[in-house]
Amino acid sequence: MKALILVGGYGTRLRPLTLSCPKPLVEFANKPMIIHQIQALKAVGCAEVILAIAYQPEVMLTFKEEWEAKLDIKITISQENVPMGTAGPLALARELLDDGSGEPFFVLNSDVICEFPLNDLLEFHKSRGGEGTLLVTQVEDPSRYGVVVTEADGKIKAFMEKPKEFVSDKINAGIYVLSPQILNRIELRPTSIEREVFPAAAADNQLYAMVLPGYWMDVGQPTDFLKGLVLHLESMNIHHHRELASGSCFVGNVLVHPSAKIGKDCLIGPDVSIGEDCEIGDGVRLSTCVAMRGVKVKKYAKVANSIIGWHSRIGAWCRVENNAILGENVGVKDELYVNGAIVLPHKDVKETIQEPKIIL
Ligand code: GDD
Ligand code: MG
Repeated sequence: MKALILVGGYGTRLRPLTLSCPKPLVEFANKPMIIHQIQALKAVGCAEVILAIAYQPEVMLTFKEEWEAKLDIKITISQENVPMGTAGPLALARELLDDGSGEPFFVLNSDVICEFPLNDLLEFHKSRGGEGTLLVTQVEDPSRYGVVVTEADGKIKAFMEKPKEFVSDKINAGIYVLSPQILNRIELRPTSIEREVFPAAAADNQLYAMVLPGYWMDVGQPTDFLKGLVLHLESMNIHHHRELASGSCFVGNVLVHPSAKIGKDCLIGPDVSIGEDCEIGDGVRLSTCVAMRGVKVKKYAKVANSIIGWHSRIGAWCRVENNAILGENVGVKDELYVNGAIVLPHKDVKETIQEPKIIL
């Protein structure tokens, strides 16, 4: 079986992180976001994953070479000359997706995280027999997503992308299994699967929805990235994942890369991920936060509800909190308070930031 992952969005909502790295490659729980998806696809027997890309081909080619070898799976790059939206890339990759056998294929957004029940989705799709089945989940604010109205057997009666008025709280989780027939609806031009293809297929009674068991989050923006981390680490805990850290300095669910160094008398957790080659000094306090690869947090600093980008440095006795997002290679001098600031890559923070703002 094959799968296509849509990796071509600009990831603007995840800035400043996406100023340094394409969104699909930003590490979530210490792995590039799409590695969670590629591993799940491999686990259900996918032999080939097509990455539909619209920009930064060099970075994606390097990624392909590294991870094809590490995961032993074929990764094919399908490059758009102009961004083709969320449906156009399927038309562009048509020959790769439809080999004439009629076999369905998976399509995933690159920024969604869940337990990926892909086998169940495939079985559900085969049992219903339409052109496509979408995983759906319930959220409090459906207006930010694609919304579906379904019948009791899962048939989708209507699909509406980001509706202004409430129609249903069941939303498109961004994970589909599609049969090749749906490709006949998609022209080779920039086009949206959510605004053009799904509404039409639903009107023809060709779309089904399977309710996703377990957690789900679109981690394409910083606050959701942290919420997704909490849910993902809890799911690892429920499944007794051995990678979760244990020891007297850890509280709740914490992920520490094996190469990271942790000082004495720290208190770390709950809900923290510490990436490759990070150095955490003595007495540091971390909760609900992400330290990307190469981050250094000096002694007695405190970081809460924040994301610290690659190779950034937090000075001794600093306090960083309230959804602060530091881009790559940001330096924060000793003893400063950083309240909810968004700091662009390669900046040095030399003064306390009392109120949330963007540091350009
Ligand atoms: N190849 C390619 N080309 N990919 C693209 C393009 C493009 O021109 N534009 C967007 N993408 C990719 C993004 O990288 C992402 O993986 C996916 O398409 C969806 O784009 P987002 O920008 O993340 O969309 P969204 O989060 O606002 O909404 C989508 O996801 C929701 C679930 O998280 C929709 O599918 C909603 O219906 C859905 O509920
Ligand atoms: Mg998204």
